[in-house]
Formats: sequence, C-alpha cells, structure tokens
Amino acid sequence: MADDKDRFVDAAHSPERRRFLKSVGASGLAVAAAPAFSQVSYAGSPDDGDQDVEAPPAEGRRRITLSVNGKRHQLDVTPNVILLDALREGLHLTGTKKGCDHGQCGACTLLVNGEAINSCLSLAVTHDGDEISTVEGLERDGELHPLQQAFLEEDAYQCGYCTSGQMMTALAILNDKDIGESDAEVREAMSGNICRCGAYKNILAAVQSARGKLGTA
Ligand code: FES
Ligand code: FES
Repeated sequence: MADDKDRFVDAAHSPERRRFLKSVGASGLAVAAAPAFSQVSYAGSPDDGDQDVEAPPAEGRRRITLSVNGKRHQLDVTPNVILLDALREGLHLTGTKKGCDHGQCGACTLLVNGEAINSCLSLAVTHDGDEISTVEGLERDGELHPLQQAFLEEDAYQCGYCTSGQMMTALAILNDKDIGESDAEVREAMSGNICRCGAYKNILAAVQSARGKLGTA
C-alpha cells in the first residue's frame, strides 16, 4: 500500500501529469496574491426564468454565468472568488471538496469544458460561460454513474473526502484517448489526487473496472 502511495506522490510533478491536469497557472498565482475577503451570491437561473436575474450585481461584484451539470446559474462574485467557493457557497454544491486549498491534493477536482482542473486554483470570473461538471452531476435519474458503481463495488474509499476528486479525475482520464490503459499510466494520470486513507489500490481497481463498464477499453 505504501508503495502505491509513493508512486502516486512521486509522479505528481511529472511533465505528463502537468500536461493532463489543466490547472490554470496564472489564476493560481492571482489567488495566492488575492485578499482573503471574497464574496459570492446567487443571482438566479435563466433556465428557471428567475425574475431577479436582471437586477444588476452589487458594487465590486461581477455577474458570471456557469453551466453546472447542464443547468445555467448566474452568480455575483468578487474578482477573488475561486471556482470551488463559487460552487460550494453560491450553489451549495458541496460534493467538490476543499482539502489543501493550494493545488496539492486534488480533492477539488472537477471538469471545465471536459478538462480536469483544480478548482481551488482557478478564479470564478475566468469561467464565465463555461460548462462545469461536478460529482453531483454523475448520477442520472437515481442511477449511479458506472464510475460511482465501480468505486462502490471495489471499496475504493474509506473516509470519502478525496473520492469526488478521484472520480472526476478518473472520468477525465477515461475520456482522454491520449492516456494509456495500463495500471502504470492510470496511476500517473491520477497522481495529483492524494488519498490520505491510502485507498490507492482499490481506486485503481475501480477506475479500471469503470473503463470496462463504460466501454472505453
Ligand atoms: S483543495 Fe484544490 S488541490 Fe487541494
Ligand atoms: S478515502 Fe479518505 S482521503 Fe481518500
């Protein structure tokens, strides 16, 4: 088990890993330098015909539209709000977790326009108009997504704090034709997602099992 973990951590800064995880470097620097005070409020959903969507944002905030799991939402955010907080605090989508808040653990991983990013390193204002996929969007009509089912069957979590990030990274990996199917290649591509419970062996088994369920093998 310790060997698995070491392999994950050692590969975290490899060129291949950096290529896969499209972390927004410039935004990350901006976040690091940003003041701690940040605010986000919900303005409404054009898809629900909310009437207050037309009201202007408060001074110092900017209105952005995020399409989250297929539904558009408008949020008023200060420029230093990170995408992770916009979702958790503005939309109450708390499935995406805040671990390190510094781009080091992968707990905050979600998909933006199909690419996996660390949402703690990316400013919400840079995602106006983007398509966001979070763990809440995996289940459909009461049916678990094949990845969720695989994590369940393979016992691929203990405390579960890292699990949503693991699954969203896995989803991106399984959809990326440039990433090989071997265990070693999956380990490397998943290396930015840390599991403090050390469930790496089971997580790998779940990803490979989901590959078969999704027909991506
Ligand atoms: S919370 Fe974003 S990488 Fe750890
Ligand atoms: S299951 Fe606990 S951190 Fe991964």
